[in-house]
Amino acid sequence: MLDIQNIGINFGGLRALDDVSFSVGKDEVVGLIGPNGAGKTTMMNIICGVYRPTEGKMFFEGNEITRIPSDRICRLGISRTYQIPQPFYAMTALAGVVTAVLNGKKRPHMCFSDAGLEASYYLEFVGLFSKRDELASNLNLYELRMLELARALATTPKLLLLDEVMAGLNPVESERALEMIWSAQEQFGVTLLWIEHVMKIIMKAAQRIVVLQYGKKIAEGPPEQIVRDPRIIEAYLGGKH
Ligand SMILES: Nc1ncnc2c1ncn2[C@@H]1O[C@H](COP(=O)(O)OP(=O)(O)O)[C@@H](O)[C@H]1O
Ligand SMILES: [Mg+2]
Repeated sequence: MLDIQNIGINFGGLRALDDVSFSVGKDEVVGLIGPNGAGKTTMMNIICGVYRPTEGKMFFEGNEITRIPSDRICRLGISRTYQIPQPFYAMTALAGVVTAVLNGKKRPHMCFSDAGLEASYYLEFVGLFSKRDELASNLNLYELRMLELARALATTPKLLLLDEVMAGLNPVESERALEMIWSAQEQFGVTLLWIEHVMKIIMKAAQRIVVLQYGKKIAEGPPEQIVRDPRIIEAYLGGKH
C-alpha cells in the first residue's frame, strides 16, 4: 500500500532522515519507534506532503506521491493525527470535523448538512458527541486526541498515521484510546502506521516494527524479534543494559 524508498531530508546542517526505506501492506499495523529526535514525526510529515524529501521516492497504491501536496495526499486516502493536537481551536468540535469531511475524499459530492450528519457520526464514534458544540479550546487532552482521531477518520482514509496518540494520557485514558484505535481499524478498515513511544503498547499492537535512530533505520521486524535485538536495547536503554 505504502512504499517508502531511500528517503532523506536535511534541515540546515541536520540530517534528519538518511536513506530510510520500508513499506506498509494493506490491513497491516506497522509500528514506527525510536528515541526522541530519531526522525519519526519528520517521516510522517514527509508522507503527508508537509515536507519535501531531499532524496528518495514514495508510492501509495502504486502511484508516486513524492511531490504531491498535503491536500491531495489526504484525498488519495492518507490521513494523520498530530503528536501535539492541532485542532481548529476557535471552532467547535463539530465544525472541526465537518471541515475534515468536506476536504476529505467525499468532498465533491457532499452538501453542508450531509457533512454535519457525517461529522456527528465520527464524533459519536469517538465518544465526543455530547461535546460537539464545545470549542476545541475547552477540551482536555484526551478529548483533543479523540477529536484528532475523529477528524482523521472523517476524511475516509485507507491509511491512517498515528503520532504518539497515548502521550500525556493516564493509564485509563490510554486503555480507552487503544480500544478506540482497535475499533476504528475494525469498523473503517484502516491500515495503520503508528508512532508510539510506549513500548508495551506498540509491541502488543503492531505486526511489524520499524526502528529509527538518528535518522537511520536500524532495524525492522516482528515485535518479538525487535525486543531481543541488542541494537534496540542499546538505543533505548544504553550500552550497559
Ligand atoms: N522543521 C524542522 N526544522 C529543523 N529541524 C527539525 C524540523 N523538524 C524536525 N527537526 C529536527 O529533526 C530531528 C527529528 O525530529 P522528529 O522527526 O520530530 O523526531 P521524533 O519524532 O522521532 O522525536 C530532530 O533533531 C528535530 O529537532
Ligand atoms: Mg515525534
